[in-house]
Amino acid sequence: MINKGIILAGGLGTRMSPLTKAVNKQLLPIHDKPLIFYPLSILMLANIKDILIIVNKGQLDQYKKIIPNGKNLGIKIKYEEQDKPRGLPDAFILGEKFINKKNVALILGDNFFYGQNLTKNLINNSKLKIGAKILLHKVFNPELFGVAKINSRNKVVSIKEKPKKFFSDYAITGLYFFDKNVSKYSKTLKPSKRNELEIVDLLNIYKKKNKLNADIIGRGGAWLDTGSIDDFYKTSAFVQAIENQQGLKIACLEEIAFIKKWINKKNISNQIKFYGKCEYSNYLKKILKTKN
Ligand code: TTP
Repeated sequence: MINKGIILAGGLGTRMSPLTKAVNKQLLPIHDKPLIFYPLSILMLANIKDILIIVNKGQLDQYKKIIPNGKNLGIKIKYEEQDKPRGLPDAFILGEKFINKKNVALILGDNFFYGQNLTKNLINNSKLKIGAKILLHKVFNPELFGVAKINSRNKVVSIKEKPKKFFSDYAITGLYFFDKNVSKYSKTLKPSKRNELEIVDLLNIYKKKNKLNADIIGRGGAWLDTGSIDDFYKTSAFVQAIENQQGLKIACLEEIAFIKKWINKKNISNQIKFYGKCEYSNYLKKILKTKN
């Protein structure tokens, strides 16, 4: 069972400069809330309540303004600073003490997931005991992603980073589940040519041990990587379209915590005071009017 999760929310956001010169990408808005709310909501939906957010050195105060702690969300949030982008597996080195030899999930701060069976799928994957699990999603342009080939039992047989020649159109999404060995293995990795520890190298350690499995997010699910300006606004438009049509919010953290009975109406009232008069607070007020 996985109870711990890490959100990797640093990075330079080079592709989105100048927007990201002063403000970290994960604090920019996807429609009506900061991007960081979306990966955080995914961990919460997976029933993960013990969370470490890794941010860039010097940006901690900004993050604490919007997510000071997890108290009013019924979860535990800790922060750790990364002095420069050393690569995704650095999360397991920086987070070694937090992980404390337990199984852990990692989500990239700029990844967006949405879909009908998502919650069931997340809870299922967080039952991982040994090995590692990745989530795959079919994409039109696999040459831009890390991609994987799997066998009929969903075992990963091969992984390639940005393949020039067609290899597979299953992209490796930014949500991973690892067993307790992840920090130990990450510490054995050597930086690549771009001077980063590579997630593909970490996954290959598990693959060599025959312990890397995959799950597929089908076509009814959406996975959007918000790395470029175009993708960022596409994701924002997607959220706006769904929220306006349904009158329900995607990634309303208080709503998720309330449904899971991690918080009560008093906590929601506190959050309304914290956010002030805004549309997000109006949505929270509607939750206060529900029966429970
Ligand atoms: P990237 O897409 O590799 O980097 P980036 O988001 O900074 O963007 P760019 O390539 O335009 O410079 O990172 C994916 C996510 O992981 C993103 O949310 C930033 C985060 N990240 C870290 O927090 N630390 C790291 O060392 C790396 C490599 C990424």
